[in-house]
Amino acid sequence: MKKRYLVTAALPYANGPLHIGHLAGAYLPADIYVRYLRLMGKDVVFVCGSDEHGAAITVKARKEGVTPREIVDKYNAILKDTFEKIGIAFDMYHRTSEPIHHETSQGFFRRLNEKGEFIEETTEQYYDEVANQFLADRYIIGTCPVCSNPDAYGDQCEKCGTTLSPTELISPRSTLSGSTPVKRPTQHWFLRLDQHENWLRQWINTGELEGVALHNPNEWKNHVLGQCNSWLEQGLQPRAMTRDLDWGVDVPQELPGSAGKKLYVWLDAPIGYISATRQWALDHGRDWEPYWKSEDTALIHFIGKDNIVFHCLIFPAILKAHGEYILPVNVPANQFMNLEGRKISTSRNWAVWVHEYCQELPGQEDALRYNMVKNMPEQRDSEFTWKGFQETTNTELVNNLANFVNRVLVLTQKYYEDGCAPQFDAARPFKSGWGVETEGNYAAELRRIREHLLEMGREIERFNFREALRLLMEVSSAGNALLQFNEPWRTVKEDPETVRTVLHLGLQYVAALSVAARPFLPFSAERLRKMLALPPLEDQGDLEAMLAVLEKGEPLLPAGHLLGVAGHLFSRIPDEVIAAQMAKLESADAQNAAAAAAAAPKTINYAPMKDIIQFDDFAKMDIRTGKILTAEKMEKSKKLLKLQVDLGFEQRTILSGIAEHFTPEEVLGRQVVVLANLAPRPMMGVESQGMILMAEDQDGKLSFVSPQEGWPSGFGVR
Ligand code: 2FM
Ligand code: ZN
Repeated sequence: MKKRYLVTAALPYANGPLHIGHLAGAYLPADIYVRYLRLMGKDVVFVCGSDEHGAAITVKARKEGVTPREIVDKYNAILKDTFEKIGIAFDMYHRTSEPIHHETSQGFFRRLNEKGEFIEETTEQYYDEVANQFLADRYIIGTCPVCSNPDAYGDQCEKCGTTLSPTELISPRSTLSGSTPVKRPTQHWFLRLDQHENWLRQWINTGELEGVALHNPNEWKNHVLGQCNSWLEQGLQPRAMTRDLDWGVDVPQELPGSAGKKLYVWLDAPIGYISATRQWALDHGRDWEPYWKSEDTALIHFIGKDNIVFHCLIFPAILKAHGEYILPVNVPANQFMNLEGRKISTSRNWAVWVHEYCQELPGQEDALRYNMVKNMPEQRDSEFTWKGFQETTNTELVNNLANFVNRVLVLTQKYYEDGCAPQFDAARPFKSGWGVETEGNYAAELRRIREHLLEMGREIERFNFREALRLLMEVSSAGNALLQFNEPWRTVKEDPETVRTVLHLGLQYVAALSVAARPFLPFSAERLRKMLALPPLEDQGDLEAMLAVLEKGEPLLPAGHLLGVAGHLFSRIPDEVIAAQMAKLESADAQNAAAAAAAAPKTINYAPMKDIIQFDDFAKMDIRTGKILTAEKMEKSKKLLKLQVDLGFEQRTILSGIAEHFTPEEVLGRQVVVLANLAPRPMMGVESQGMILMAEDQDGKLSFVSPQEGWPSGFGVR
């Protein structure tokens, strides 16, 4: 058993808000795990922060026409606030733009350099001759060699998750200018990953390093091991740890050739976990080093599957190369969560944004957390649908959990006027909530709850959060069944003694839930504490202490304990809320379709040519220049404008079918071309004396055909 835990959650890029895929992938499992450890009295530090460097940031800044600093300040604030609102309880949420982080990561670079871990090499890299810049990582896009996604980034394909290097892209193009880049020589520091391949292979697959067992690979997820091994099979190559960029951590300036070079973001970002821990220690007067350097510490990285190689191979190689650091005991990466049958996409706005959720469904934070766990992509990609969200919330949280709590409290307060947990007889038989046949025994019932919660804890320790949540909800179901089987509302008159025992027991179920639900549903657990008039949890062994009480078969709430006010723990999600959310997604879809249509090259359908005519046929037409003097809508007609047109030598009334294209104000004063000898035609009681000639495109759009500005009216057109 390790003495302490250092838990990290992937540093989100500060270039956009948080969506449900991020939440279910890394942050929520990490938060549940940490909250559970705290409740079990463990020494744990939970760090995260904004990843504020790399092309992800500068590309976004360029797109928005602002500085990288403005981008990271804006999104760091949004991310921090969102994490707080959805109850992710970091000990430290840091930023990689902080000086302490620059210093920490430069320290690593120097150390690795001194130890001969780098080779300095000049290689050919893509260069944009229009923007005059080297194109690292996200500055370059092209077709993914694995899945043929035409918009894969130079460092990663977001469609299939493959980690790439720019030179692997097919048909590369610059995201700065759109031009095809050329290759130019540039010098960089390469980490000799090839030299770390053997021990990494052994460490990943056996858990052993230099004869010491560090982790149990059977506890690692299969897909994590699989991804690592597929990298190892291809053979690790030296990897550039510096970039030609103007935003990021400087390569230590004393090193020759460092001018204009920054640390690779995937070197500096994971070191951000260490900087965050240092800052936490400074803020709390603690020592950070045991958390990173003592074999007594369990280091655990929570990430999404696209970050596996960086946390399981590259960062461990960096930590080991440094020489003083421990390696992670597990990297419980999750797979991806899809939304309504499609991949979540930031650029296409096909996402549920967590900050918007918190604004639009206030008070329902735990419902989102619950649904995220229920559909957590632990072993394979999963699916979130709004209908599923509604159904799960209404049946499991409202009908099961909230109703149970409400019934216990309301019945207790109804039957016992002092509003206290009733005096009861622990020897009184009742029907157990765990099975209709079983005769209940008060102490055994409490021990049953304990066993169940112990099992829940074991599943959390194995990173099986879905199963752990199921076990938690079984406690609530058993509480419900206790009421259902004993029907206190029916028996209170004839058998008040049993009802006292049953309701007292019901309160113990609620009290147990007010602690055990905290990792998953922290806001609701807090509300439960209030309803029971229990003090807020301290996050220091509360669950451990509670399990010890239950083991003795003793109640968590004594008889005579004055209860608080019963309330509704969850409210139903109405159809309108779901419809509004679906409408939002549909509108994102429509915008994408419109943008795609606008960007797509148009096929033009020209009208077929008419039959050849002779000059005499043309000469029969008297076409003249004119000017519109007045214009008004024809009453009862959608199509017609009534125009007064000056032909110089006379004025004409002309009815023109252009009212759906132009307002009277728009046509007033326009110079036009008129077919002047067209036989007059009566239309809607007015005689039209000619025709205004218009150009028409394939979509039926109209344009005036006008002589040049100031041309006099009444002259012929030939
Ligand atoms: O993929 C990402 O969003 C990265 N910003 C994760 C970094 S994790 C860590 F190493 F800091
Ligand atoms: Zn791909």
